Amino acid sequence: MPRLRDIARAGGLPFAALATAASPVAARDDVTHRVCSPNERICFALTTENEIPTYSVTRDGKPVIAPSRLGFMLRGDGKFEHSTALGDATDAKADRTWEQPWGENRVTRENYREMRVPIVELIGGKRRIDLIARVFDSGVGFRFAFPDQPNLKDVGIDEELTEFNIAGEAEAWWITAGEWNRYEYLYNHTPANQVGTAHTPITFRRKDDGLHIAIHEAALVDYAAFWLQRIDGQRFRTRLSNSSEPSKVQRTAPFETPWRTIIIGDDAPGLYASADIILNLNEPNRLGDVSWVKPLKYIGIWWAMHLDEWSWNSGPKHGATTKHAMQYIDFAAKHGFDAVLFEGWNTGWDGNWIGDHGRNFNFAEAYPDFDMDKVAAYAKSKGVAIMGHHETAGNSGLYAEQLDAAMDYYAKHGVPSVKTGYVADAGGVLHKDASGNEIWDWHDGQWQSRHHLEVVLAAAKRHISINAHEPIKDTGLRRTYPNWISREGARGMEYQAWGDPPNPPEHETNLAFTRMLSGPMDFTPGIVSLTGKGGREIPSTLARQLANFVVIYSPVQMAADLPENYEKHPAAFEFIKRVPADWEQTRVLAGAIGDYAVFARQRRGGQDWYVGGVTDEQARELTLDFAFLPKGKSYRAKIWRDGPGGGVGGDRFAMVVEEQTVTSATKLPVRMEAGGGFAIALTPGR
Ligand code: NOJ
Ligand code: CA
Repeated sequence: MPRLRDIARAGGLPFAALATAASPVAARDDVTHRVCSPNERICFALTTENEIPTYSVTRDGKPVIAPSRLGFMLRGDGKFEHSTALGDATDAKADRTWEQPWGENRVTRENYREMRVPIVELIGGKRRIDLIARVFDSGVGFRFAFPDQPNLKDVGIDEELTEFNIAGEAEAWWITAGEWNRYEYLYNHTPANQVGTAHTPITFRRKDDGLHIAIHEAALVDYAAFWLQRIDGQRFRTRLSNSSEPSKVQRTAPFETPWRTIIIGDDAPGLYASADIILNLNEPNRLGDVSWVKPLKYIGIWWAMHLDEWSWNSGPKHGATTKHAMQYIDFAAKHGFDAVLFEGWNTGWDGNWIGDHGRNFNFAEAYPDFDMDKVAAYAKSKGVAIMGHHETAGNSGLYAEQLDAAMDYYAKHGVPSVKTGYVADAGGVLHKDASGNEIWDWHDGQWQSRHHLEVVLAAAKRHISINAHEPIKDTGLRRTYPNWISREGARGMEYQAWGDPPNPPEHETNLAFTRMLSGPMDFTPGIVSLTGKGGREIPSTLARQLANFVVIYSPVQMAADLPENYEKHPAAFEFIKRVPADWEQTRVLAGAIGDYAVFARQRRGGQDWYVGGVTDEQARELTLDFAFLPKGKSYRAKIWRDGPGGGVGGDRFAMVVEEQTVTSATKLPVRMEAGGGFAIALTPGR
C-alpha cells in the first residue's frame, strides 16, 4: 500500500489540480472585500484584523457569523495566519438549473455570486493562499485554494484554523465527534456555548429571531473531514480528523480544500430547503451516462440477524443460505420489491470478525450453503435484483486489495448496488504500508476519504452503486459521482433491535434537520412488528414506521422487517409497497428540530404525492395545508394515522386507515400520538 505522500505525488485522485499558479500580487492590510447573494440579503466579507485574515457573514445587515479568523498550521512551515494582507478580488457568478439523475428534487437551481481573494504573507517567503467565497440566497460556501508556488509545494496541514463565531445567543443540536462510535450518537440539545466537539452538520437556532444556521462542508475529497470544536462562548473552529501520517492532510499544490458551508434558513423547514447549497457546491456529474444508477426499494436477510434469530456467520443459524435467499426473492417478486440484500453470504464472518478486524473476509467467495450462481439466476428469472454486501470491519486495506475481484464477482452476477460496511471503532480503519506493516486510520480522515472514492470509482466502472455504512459523512459528492447512492452515518433502525438505549421518538425529528441536511440516509425503516431483540418494545407507533419512508430520504430504501411480519400487517404493508424511493420535488410542510417534522414529496415523473409526519414523545395535532398541490385538481387521499388510545405508552399498533378527497384549498387536522406519526398517499381523482 503506498502512503499518502506517495499517492499525492503521483497525482492523487480527481479534483487535484484546480488551482492556478501563483503570480505575485499587490496586497493591502486595510481593505475589506465583500460579496453578496443574488438577492443581496446575505453578505460575506473578508478583511484583515491586526494582519490576521478575518471573515464575517451578515443577513439583512445583521451578523450571522461574527468576525472569525482563518488560517492553517503547516508542517515545517509554521502557522499561516499572522502578518497577512489581501490582494485584489476577482468576481464571478452563475445562475443555472441542473437535474439530479435521482434525488429528492429533480431540478436544482444554482444561483450564486463568487469572489476569489489572495491572502498573502507580508513576511518570510510571502506564501499565498486564496479564499474563494460563493454566496447563495440560502447560505455561504468558502474554500481555500493553495496555488502552485515555490514556498508551498508539498503541503502538510497539521490543522486548519477556520473559525465560526456564531452571532447571537443560540441553542444547538449536535453529536459528539472524535469519539469511539463515529457518527452513531443520540443528538445533544444544548445552549451553543455548551457544545463540546461536534460533527457536522450541526444546527443552531438563534434565540431572538429563530434564525437557523447549520455548519457543514461540501466536496470532501482527498482531505480530512472537520469536526467543530468550541473554543469559548459561541466561537468554534475546525479540527481536522486524525491521520496515521505526521500531518492530518498531505497534498501537493495546486489544490483546493473542501467548501466550508453555512446553511441559513428562517425556520427548520427553510433550513432543509437551503441545504441544496451542499449539492450546488459540488462539481457536476463526472460519470457521463448514469442511467444505470437506479433508485430501488429492497428487502433483505438482515433484521433476523439483528434480532439474533439468524447469524451472519456459518452454522445452524446461518441467515444467507440458498434456501432463505429463494424465499426472500419469492417474497420480493410477489410484492414488487426491486432487490433483496443478503448479508453474511461470503466467507470470513466466523469467529470474532470485529475483533479480528475483518482480516479473514473474502469478497469473492460464498459460504458453501449459499450458491451465488443459483441465487443470481433465480433472482433474474423473477425480475428481482441482488443488493450486494461487503462488510470490511474497517479493514479498508484488505478491501482495496480485493476491490477489483470483489466488484467483478458482483458484476458477473448482475448486482446493481452494493452496501458496504466499516464496523470498527473510530481510529480502527486498517490498511498496510509498502512494507506490509499495519497502519490505523480514522473513518473520516484523509486516507478513508480517498478509499471511499476509490471504491465508488471501481464500482462505477462496473455500473454498480455504493451505499456505505459506517461511512465518512456525506458532503454532496453524489452530484459528481451519482453512483454514491446512499449511506448510513447516524443511528439507524438497527438501534431499535439492540441499542442501549434505543432511539427515542425525537430521534428522527433531530435527524431531519441535522444529519439529513447532508444527503440521503439508508435508515432501513419499516419495522411493523414494533419489536426488537428478545421481544423488546420499539418506542414507535405503526403509522410512524410508514411516515419514515417519506421523512428520511434515501433512493435505496429498505423495507427492513421480516416477510412474515409484513404478512401480519397488510394495511401498513400496503403503504410500504406504494411509496416510491425517487422524487420529483420535496416540500417540508412543517417542523421544529427535536419536536416534529412533516415532509411532502412528489413521485419522480408522476402525479402522486406522499406526505409523512413524525412527532417526538409529545402527542400533537397539526393542520395540514395542501396548498402544495396544483390548483383546481382533486386528489384521493389515503391516510394511515395513529388510532385512538395509540402512541408510545398506549396501543402502538392502533392505526386508522381512511380516505377522503382533498384539493389545494384543503386544511386537514391530523393527530399524532406520543412517538407516533402519519402517512398519506395522494393520487389524482376524487
Ligand atoms: C452495521 C450495518 O449498519 C448493518 O446494517 C449491518 O447489518 C452490520 N453492520 C453488518 O454488516
Ligand atoms: Ca422534543
